[in-house]
Amino acid sequence: MDGVDMRTRLGWIELPNPILTASGCAASGREIAQFFDIARLGAVVTKSIMLAPRAGRPTPRMAETPSGMLNSIGLQGPGIDVFLRRDLPWLLSRRARAVVSIAGGSVGEYAELARRLHGAPGVTAIEVNISCPNVEDRGEVFACNPLAASDVVAAVREASGADVPVFAKLSPDVTDIVEIARACVEAGADGLSLINTLLGMAIDTERMRPVLGGMTGGLSGPAIRPVAVRCIWQVHEAMPEVPIIGVGGVGSGLDALELILAGASAVSVGTAIFNDPGACMRILRELDDALSERGIARLADVIGLAHKPSGHPTSTGLGPGRPGGLSSPGRRHVLFEEDRR
Ligand SMILES: Cc1cc2nc3c(=O)[nH]c(=O)nc-3n(C[C@H](O)[C@H](O)[C@H](O)COP(=O)(O)O)c2cc1C
Repeated sequence: MDGVDMRTRLGWIELPNPILTASGCAASGREIAQFFDIARLGAVVTKSIMLAPRAGRPTPRMAETPSGMLNSIGLQGPGIDVFLRRDLPWLLSRRARAVVSIAGGSVGEYAELARRLHGAPGVTAIEVNISCPNVEDRGEVFACNPLAASDVVAAVREASGADVPVFAKLSPDVTDIVEIARACVEAGADGLSLINTLLGMAIDTERMRPVLGGMTGGLSGPAIRPVAVRCIWQVHEAMPEVPIIGVGGVGSGLDALELILAGASAVSVGTAIFNDPGACMRILRELDDALSERGIARLADVIGLAHKPSGHPTSTGLGPGRPGGLSSPGRRHVLFEEDRR
């Protein structure tokens, strides 16, 4: 079989492949550009940018946890002016597709950020990080309230160019993620990014005090992948037409495939980059291999496939290794083709 067709669509935009960086884990791409050509990524999702420069939260800001890590970086960054002058043109000069992540403390700030990005060359899509406290509403996180989430999305959608898709990035720290997802889509989100970190905390039992300077932090890494899979699954089940960027604990091609089978059209890689700056390219290769081994010709054919009972190879009752079973890739391909009819 020729190579797998890895192209994927996020609404009306097409990416050459589904592997993206996750916001905050590769800044604006400069550091990882030392390791590979970032134009080979599906896209670079930039660190969430705010209107003004920010110093972030007190140190220490990182803590290792079983199968994961906690971070309380806060939204440290140079502010939108420097981003527009320095980072975005640099990404464009590298021919990288940029998904620009924005964050604010009020609906007005988000809208202003979207206005500033409107017409700026090199913006492939906007990702709205709504896991931020609303300074105008007692610090309640936008992503935890469907009304607040939809106010932000509506304001960003209105202020953005019609040609630029707007993705809302949701927090898993809610009772009903589908309710928030639906509110964002009804407010005009063209797609969703699932998930941001989970709120966590660690206490140093020697010092008998919190490990992180900011007390609480965002939990990421392999520990949260089952939560990401569950959120993607629930939202894709409820709104299968809405494109999803899956994110959470992806460290291998098979991890990426798991999120795609749950319903993600693209996959962002975050914490894995800190151990392996070339992780995105490795994961892309591994995903390509995994699809070839399964006799899949097009990535698009497996997006959300786990929702279709008859599309799952084991549902035939023929387990791998049994006579006439699924041990040969060619046979698997035939089964998938039959299942789709
Ligand atoms: C150090 C660090 C900084 C992050 N900064 C941001 C950010 O600025 N904006 C955002 O939307 N998500 C941010 N995230 C969350 C990631 O984009 C991602 O949603 C989360 O880490 C789960 O993916 P992972 O398990 O692959 O890391 C950050 C995560 C980490 C670990």
